[in-house]
Amino acid sequence: MFRTRITDMLNIRYPILQGGMAWVATHELAAAVSEAGGLGIIGAGNAPAEVIKEEIKKLKELTDKPFGVNIMLMSPFAEDIVGIVCDEGVPVVTTGAGSPGKYIKKLKEHNVKIIPVVPTVSLAVRLEREGVDAVIVEGTEAGGHIGELTTMTLVPQIVDAVKIPIIAAGGIGDGRGFLAALSLGAEGVQIGTRFVCSTEAKVHINYKEAIVKAKDRDAQVTGRSTGHPVRALKNKFTREFLELENNNASLEELELLGSGRLKLAVVEGDINKGSLMSGQVAGLIKDIKPCKEIIGDIVSYAEKKLDFLHLLKEGDKDE
Ligand SMILES: Cc1cc2nc3c(=O)[nH]c(=O)nc-3n(C[C@H](O)[C@H](O)[C@H](O)COP(=O)(O)O)c2cc1C
Repeated sequence: MFRTRITDMLNIRYPILQGGMAWVATHELAAAVSEAGGLGIIGAGNAPAEVIKEEIKKLKELTDKPFGVNIMLMSPFAEDIVGIVCDEGVPVVTTGAGSPGKYIKKLKEHNVKIIPVVPTVSLAVRLEREGVDAVIVEGTEAGGHIGELTTMTLVPQIVDAVKIPIIAAGGIGDGRGFLAALSLGAEGVQIGTRFVCSTEAKVHINYKEAIVKAKDRDAQVTGRSTGHPVRALKNKFTREFLELENNNASLEELELLGSGRLKLAVVEGDINKGSLMSGQVAGLIKDIKPCKEIIGDIVSYAEKKLDFLHLLKEGDKDE
C-alpha cells in the first residue's frame, strides 16, 4: 500500500527510515528497524572507521535486510568511513552537515545509494545535479542539528524543485505525521526522536524517560549564534549554554562547553549536564516501545485513515 520510489530504490517494505543518530543509532537499533520493514541506519557520528566497521559486522549478524550508514561530513573520519562503506557493501549512505559532493563518484562506483540531508531548496537542487539518489528534507522541528525552515513549508518547495524522490524528516512521530508527509509529496519519512524512545535503542533510560515526560515547548534551540543550532530538551546544560551565548562568549568557549554532551546523556544518563537532543515531537511521545510496534502503529493508522477517507468518498458517491 505504501510502495513508493523510495521503497523500490531501497528494497524495503515501508518508506520509513530511522535517523542515523550519533551515539544513539547503534547496530541494535538499526537492525531492529530494518527487521521491522523500515531502513535502519547506523549513525557514524565522530566515531573512528574501525568502530563503524565493527558496527556493520554486528548488524549483519542480526539481520540480512537492507540498512544504511549515516556519515557526518564534519567528522575527521568521514573519508575513511566512505572507504569502509564501499568495502563492506553497505547499500545506502545518508549524510549530514554539508554536501557529500567529493564522495559521490566513489560511492556510485560501489553501487551505494546516496541520500543527503538538506535544509534548503538550493542545496537540494545542487545535489540533484551532482547525482544523489534522493534527499532527506529536514525541517527545524527535528532533534539534533537543525536548519531554519519547517517541514510543512520546505518539503513541498523541494518536491516542486527536483525530480528525485524526497524523504521528509522533522516532527514525525506517528501515523498522522507519516500521512501528512506523504500528502506534502514526500515518498518516505525519516524519524529520529521517536526511535530514541524505542526498546532497542541503547540509550540510557533517564534520557528516554525525559523525552516521555517532555511537554510541547521543552525542546529548545541552542547555538544559533554559532551558526550550528541544535535542538535538545531544556536542562541545566542548555541554560548554561544560552547564558554564555547571550553574554557573547567566543566560539571556542561554546564549543568547549558543548563537547561530549550527547555521549554524557546517552551513555551516562546525565539529564542535567548532558545534551538530550530531541525534536519538538517529544511532546507527542508517551511511551517506550519496540521498533516493530512503532512502525506497525504508524502503518496501521495510515492504512485505516486512508480506508476511512476512501469509504467517505464512496458514501458521497451513493447519495
Ligand atoms: C539524538 C539525535 C542525534 C542525531 N544525530 C544525527 C547525526 O549524527 N547525523 C544526522 O544526519 N542526523 C542526526 N540527527 C537527526 C536525525 O537523523 C533525524 O533526521 C531527525 O531526528 C528527524 O527529526 P525528529 O527528531 O523530529 O524525528 C540526530 C537526531 C537526534 C534526536
